[in-house]
Amino acid sequence: MSSETIDPTFEELLQEIKSVRAFDFTGYKRPSLRRRFEKRLQAVGAASFDEYASYLEANPDEFHELFNTILINVTGFFRDPQSWEFLAAEVIPRVIDQADGIRIWTPGCASGEEAYTIAMLFAEALGADRFAERGKIYATDLDEDALRQGRHAVYSEKSVSAIDPVLLERYFTRNGDGYQLRVELRRTVVFGRHDLVRDPPISRVDLLVCRNALMYFNAETQRRILNNFHFALRPHGFLFLGKSEVITTRTNQFAAFDLRRRVFVKGPAADGAIPAVRVRPAAVIEGPDLGVEHAAFETSPTAQLIVDRAGTLVQANVHARRLFGLALVDHGRPLVELDLANGSIEIAARLDEAYRDRRPVTARRVEIGQNDDNGAFDLQAVPLLTTAGEAIGALITLTDVSRYTALESSLETARREVENAYEELKSTVEELESTNEELQSTNEELETTNEELQSTNEELETMNEELQSTNEELETMNDELARRTDDLNDANAFLESVLGSMSSAVVVVDAEQRILAWNRGAVTLWGVMVDETIGQHLLNLEIGLPLGELRAPLRDVLQGKTPSTQLEVDARNRRGTAIVCRVTITALDGPDGQPRGAILLMDERLADAD
Ligand SMILES: C[S@@+](CC[C@H](N)C(=O)[O-])C[C@H]1O[C@@H](n2cnc3c(N)ncnc32)[C@H](O)[C@@H]1O
Repeated sequence: MSSETIDPTFEELLQEIKSVRAFDFTGYKRPSLRRRFEKRLQAVGAASFDEYASYLEANPDEFHELFNTILINVTGFFRDPQSWEFLAAEVIPRVIDQADGIRIWTPGCASGEEAYTIAMLFAEALGADRFAERGKIYATDLDEDALRQGRHAVYSEKSVSAIDPVLLERYFTRNGDGYQLRVELRRTVVFGRHDLVRDPPISRVDLLVCRNALMYFNAETQRRILNNFHFALRPHGFLFLGKSEVITTRTNQFAAFDLRRRVFVKGPAADGAIPAVRVRPAAVIEGPDLGVEHAAFETSPTAQLIVDRAGTLVQANVHARRLFGLALVDHGRPLVELDLANGSIEIAARLDEAYRDRRPVTARRVEIGQNDDNGAFDLQAVPLLTTAGEAIGALITLTDVSRYTALESSLETARREVENAYEELKSTVEELESTNEELQSTNEELETTNEELQSTNEELETMNEELQSTNEELETMNDELARRTDDLNDANAFLESVLGSMSSAVVVVDAEQRILAWNRGAVTLWGVMVDETIGQHLLNLEIGLPLGELRAPLRDVLQGKTPSTQLEVDARNRRGTAIVCRVTITALDGPDGQPRGAILLMDERLADAD
C-alpha cells in the first residue's frame, strides 16, 4: 500500500541483477532500495541507472560494494531491551517446557549479536551446559561478510556496552581490544547463508527470531516469508519480530502472544465470527387460541405467518400481509399457491428443514420484498408440536434487519478502510525504521571515517613533533656550526696575518700542486696578485722563477720521500732584476701524517752577491 512509483530503468537493473547475479532484490521496498543504489551511483559517478548497469558489467568488484550497501547490517546485543526482557520472562520458559531439543532460527542475523543474545538468555535459564546439550540456534543471513564476523564472535568495547556487566563477565573473554564470546556458547550457534526470499525454511523450529529484516520487503514478499515461517514453526512455536514489524495480513497463521512486544504464536487467531443466533425452543400449543393472543399476534412488529402441516396458510399478521401483499381471504389457501414475493423458496426450504429436524431453523439476511422494494430479513421457522411431539404446523417469523445490514455493510467498509490505513501506517512505520537503520549505518560509516581522520591527525601530530625535535637538533647544530665558523674565521685571519707579516714569499700548494695561499711577500717578489694565483697550478704560473726546476723536489716532498728540501734557482724578480732565489720546500702534513700539500718559502738574494 505504500506509494511506490515504478521507475522502468531501475526495475530493469533489478531484473538484470536477478538474472546475471542470481540475487533477487525485486521483493525489497523501493524507496529504501533506490536510496541504497543511488549511494553507489554517486560513489562511482554514474548519472543514471543505465550508466550504473554498464559500470556494473565492466567492474565485477562493484557488485560486492553494491551488495554491502544494500544489506544494512545495523544490529546490537539486547536491541530493544524491554522486548528481550519479555522474551526471557514469558517466552523462553514456555519454549523450554514444550521442547526437548530446542531449535531456534534467527534469519537476518547480521553479525551475530542477536543470536548470541538469545544464547545468553537460554544459558541463563537452563545453564550454559544444559543449553549446549539441548539447544541449537541457526543464525542465517544473506551477507557472508556479516556471517564471518558472527562466527568469529569478537566484538568491540562499544558493541558489548549494551550487555549487562554480569553477563559480559560470565560469557565473554577479553580478546585484544575487544571481547570474544566463550567457546561453550559459541558452539550453540550455527551460522549459515540463507536467502529469506529464495531458500526453503528451516523446519521444526520452536522459536523464530526475525527482527528488522521483514520491514525491508514489500507486502507480497513479506506474505511469502511469513508463509515460510508458518511452515518452519512447530505447533505453538513462537515468532519474535522487530519493534516496527507486525503481522497485518488477514491470516489465521499466527495469533498475537504479545502484540506490543511483537511476539506471535503459531496457530489460528481468535475466531472473530459473529456468534450464532440463539434460537428459542419449539413452541408448544397447549390450549385454544385466546383473543388477546390473537391481537398480540396480529400487531406484532415482526412479520409472522402460521401454516399447518399440509402447507396451508392459517394466518398472516398485519406485517406479513403487507410484506407479501396478502389479504385476509388468503387465509386457508396453500402456501405454494400464494405469491410470496422473492422469499418463498427460502421459506419453503426452511419449513422442510424445521419439520424434518423438529427444531427451529433460522436463516440470516434473506431478501424478501415485492419488486424493487427488497428488504433483508432474519427468518425463523419454528415447528409447532403437540405434546406428543407431532408437528401440526409452523410459525414463520421474519425480522426486518435491513437497517442492521446497511449498518453492517458500512461497518465492513469502515473496517476495511481502517485495515488499509493500518497497513499503510505499518508500511510507513517500517519505512521510517529502515530509514532509521540506514541513517544509523551512515552514521557508523561517518564514525569510521572520523576515526580514520582522527588517526591520520594523530599521525600528523606525531610527525609534527618529530619534525619539531629534528628542527631543534638542527638549530643546535647550526649554533655549533656558527661557533666553529667563527673559530675558523679567527684561525684564517690569524693565519693570513702570520703569512702577511712574513717578509719572505710564502706559497702553499695542495697535493695536486694547486695554489692555496700566496702571501704579500710573494706578490712583492713575483708581481702577481693573490686572486690571479689561488686555485692555479703552481707550475703553470708565468713568473720570473723557472718553475720546472721545482718539479722534482716538489714531487719528492709531496710523495713523502723527504720532509723538506732546499734549492737555489736563478730567477728574475718582478722588476726583471736577476736574482738567486732560495726555495725551501716543506711538507704540509695531513691528520694521517701523510703530506696533504707543501709550503714553499722563497727568499731572494742578488745574483752577483755570490
Ligand atoms: C538491519 S539487519 C537486522 C539484524 C538483526 N536481526 C537485528 O535486528 O539486530 C537486517 C539483516 O537482514 C539481512 N537480509 C537482507 N535481505 C536478506 C535476505 N534476502 N535473506 C536473508 N537475510 C537478509 C541483511 O544482510 C541484514 O544483516
